[in-house]
Amino acid sequence: MITVIGSLNIDLVTSVDRYPKLGETLLGSNFQTKYGGKGANQAVAAARLGGTVRMVGCVGSDSYGDDYRSYLQNEGVLVDNVEPVTHTSTGTASITIAEGDNSIIVVPGANFALTPEVIEAKKDAIANSKVILLQLEIPMETVEKVLEIASEHKVITILNPAPFQPIPAHWWNMITYITPNEHEAAMLMESPDFKEEYKEKIIMTNGSKGVVFYQDSKEQLIPAPKVEVVDTTGAGDTFNGAFAYFLHEGKGLDEACRYAVRAASLSVTKFGAQGGMPTLEELKSFMDQN
Ligand code: ATP
Ligand code: RIB
Repeated sequence: MITVIGSLNIDLVTSVDRYPKLGETLLGSNFQTKYGGKGANQAVAAARLGGTVRMVGCVGSDSYGDDYRSYLQNEGVLVDNVEPVTHTSTGTASITIAEGDNSIIVVPGANFALTPEVIEAKKDAIANSKVILLQLEIPMETVEKVLEIASEHKVITILNPAPFQPIPAHWWNMITYITPNEHEAAMLMESPDFKEEYKEKIIMTNGSKGVVFYQDSKEQLIPAPKVEVVDTTGAGDTFNGAFAYFLHEGKGLDEACRYAVRAASLSVTKFGAQGGMPTLEELKSFMDQN
């Protein structure tokens, strides 16, 4: 079982030719509402590949929350631990796509109702998982609580440190792998708490360049295949979900990264965070062609 503990957002995606200047109004070319949130994106990425995936998170008791639960269920994700909360709305992400990139403002809403107390009640779900996948769109103290339970039960933990916040020094021993992008990796390694020995836990995604990890103190690069980019939103999430899936299936670090990098590259060829996440068959046929 892969358990993803994290956010569920509704993505409000506007496409425009260029970013507006401060105070300027522009006419955009397209607007779409999509399912997103780093937690749910990663859960869908792993489930599409065929993983048994449980999502733990909170949505608002609004129509967005109800729709999201049904949608996840259709994607094959177990949603018994996705809880509707009454006092706040489902998380949202206002995304602008322009100039070949994106910018995102997240309003966490119900995602911040996922407190350590809620996690305490779900201890067994964490303890009986093989892999736990976490991001930083839920409260830091909740992430810490999950890490404590998981490490006590020797469950593999993958932390995607996004959106970036400094990682407390005492977390490192509870993390099996940490998956920053290039910018997050630089901030992690600049921290005064960072020790050289932690490098072997780092799997750094690096956009079109691929992924870098460290083995026996040596840097290994797995290049990304060249693809026609439509939308890079959720590329990192696809990598994380796929990486968790292949580790869960017993693949070694190198092989899990090789599959995950290709799944992520395939995902950027379609619109929306989850739009291009491949099934196992799609991934295999892409790999045969590349
Ligand atoms: P996001 O925050 O947009 O989800 P990220 O910054 O977390 O992304 P990246 O390092 O940009 O993650 O990308 C993750 C993976 O996605 C890369 O390792 C690569 O496999 C794939 N990828 C991203 N951009 C491209 C691209 N332009 N061409 C091919 N593959 C890409
Ligand atoms: O990583 C992409 C995700 O970040 C989007 O789906 C958005 O919801 C934000 O959380």
